[in-house]
Amino acid sequence: MAGKKNVLSMSADKTTPVITIDGPSGSGKGTISRSIAAQLDFHFLDSGSLYRAVALASINRRLAADDIAALAQLAATVPVQFETGESGEARVLLGGQDVSRELRQEEVGDRASRVAVHAAVRDALLDRQRRWRQPPGLVADGRDMGTVVFANANLKIFLTASAEIRAQRRYKQLIEKGISANIEGLLEDIRERDRRDTDRAVAALKPAPDAVTIDSSALTIEQVVTKVLDLSKHRL
Ligand code: DC
Repeated sequence: MAGKKNVLSMSADKTTPVITIDGPSGSGKGTISRSIAAQLDFHFLDSGSLYRAVALASINRRLAADDIAALAQLAATVPVQFETGESGEARVLLGGQDVSRELRQEEVGDRASRVAVHAAVRDALLDRQRRWRQPPGLVADGRDMGTVVFANANLKIFLTASAEIRAQRRYKQLIEKGISANIEGLLEDIRERDRRDTDRAVAALKPAPDAVTIDSSALTIEQVVTKVLDLSKHRL
């Protein structure tokens, strides 16, 4: 995959196949999208990390969450790079520094959700995201990949799971990473963030009219991956 790094600097492409996977945090989107991209040998866009990187940079620079002009400027210029680490783990660099761990913190996720309500911020990230569409193909993970960013995608998946299941998954993930967490608090945060992502005026979290909705509450990662790969067979 060495030749697939830093595709952000290339120009946009409208014909390369794209699979979009949208849905709330904790639906399994990240793991599932990454696995599908690896199996198809496609590029992978984790758009949530872009929003999180803007959020982290805005916290570091002590910007207010409603300073729209400064946030949009940051979104257009924030120096984010995606890399694969030595043991195959996904890494995100901000200004050349590995911030993968910080980006997963609840505070950063919460700020990302607040920053993402601004149309000017979303517009600033639009072209950056579209430039990930490069041969042989792209799997794009986010909230508005199928509705806005890649509205002409070959296959659109909307992945959901109940808030309780998502809180349990998030709790497990955090504990495994050695980050302390409280399940009740996580559930409350998930509900609150769902509300903000779903109710916002621009690019709200909702399935595209032509998306296939999959509820992952009672499915394993492998079952969802197989289902998506089956659906993709006749569409790429
Ligand atoms: O997927 P995630 O939890 O890493 O995303 C963090 C926040 O970023 C999420 O609350 C909403 C926002 N986001 C968005 O608005 N649009 C996207 N395509 C991806 C993320």
